[in-house]
Amino acid sequence: MSVNIDSRVVGPGSDEFLEQAWHLKETISRDEGVLKQRRNFFTDAYRRSTVHCYIQDGTDLIGFAAVRRDGYILFLAVAPECRGEGIGKRLVARVAEDHRSITCHARTTNENALQFYEHLGFEIKRRIDNYYEDGGDAYYLKLGSSAGLTDRISDLIRR
Ligand SMILES: CC(C)(COP(=O)(O)OP(=O)(O)OC[C@H]1O[C@@H](n2cnc3c(N)ncnc32)[C@H](O)[C@@H]1OP(=O)(O)O)[C@@H](O)C(=O)NCCC(=O)NCCS
Repeated sequence: MSVNIDSRVVGPGSDEFLEQAWHLKETISRDEGVLKQRRNFFTDAYRRSTVHCYIQDGTDLIGFAAVRRDGYILFLAVAPECRGEGIGKRLVARVAEDHRSITCHARTTNENALQFYEHLGFEIKRRIDNYYEDGGDAYYLKLGSSAGLTDRISDLIRR
């Protein structure tokens, strides 16, 4: 990963990087048909979350994970031009430092994200038909809570 990239944590209640996160999410939503949540939902969820961010050149948001207090990932996004460099797994690793287990939903059609999550050791727990506002179906995924989660994640980011 480039030396110009560093990480930040935005605590609940802060709007830091909110605008950039919304624009990144909207670009992905438009181009990839995922992360379709509306602005009000996104803003409320962002403000309630702890948001792990990766920043390039001190100002540019290139990836973020918005996490609820129970370890549920509300949003995970990496800028398309920065994918495949380990940013997504580092974001999940940061979440794993704070939580014994991590959960999330992903569209059943989002093969990219499903392969990513399964590669990190997430398991599909159940399918929820008609989960999304547009009628799309979701899988509910979980990582942990078996012992060794943190070790496994540390292994992942060392590679
Ligand atoms: C899913 C996403 C966050 C992955 O981010 P990323 O930074 O490219 O992922 P990483 O580079 O950290 O990849 C971690 C590992 O997963 C693997 N991986 C990532 N995407 C993969 C894919 N589509 N298929 C197979 N393996 C994949 C990588 O090869 C890597 O393996 P390694 O650790 O053995 O090298 C990114 O593609 C994204 O933002 N997608 C759009 C938004 C989205 O779908 N979010 C999830 C909604 S629930």
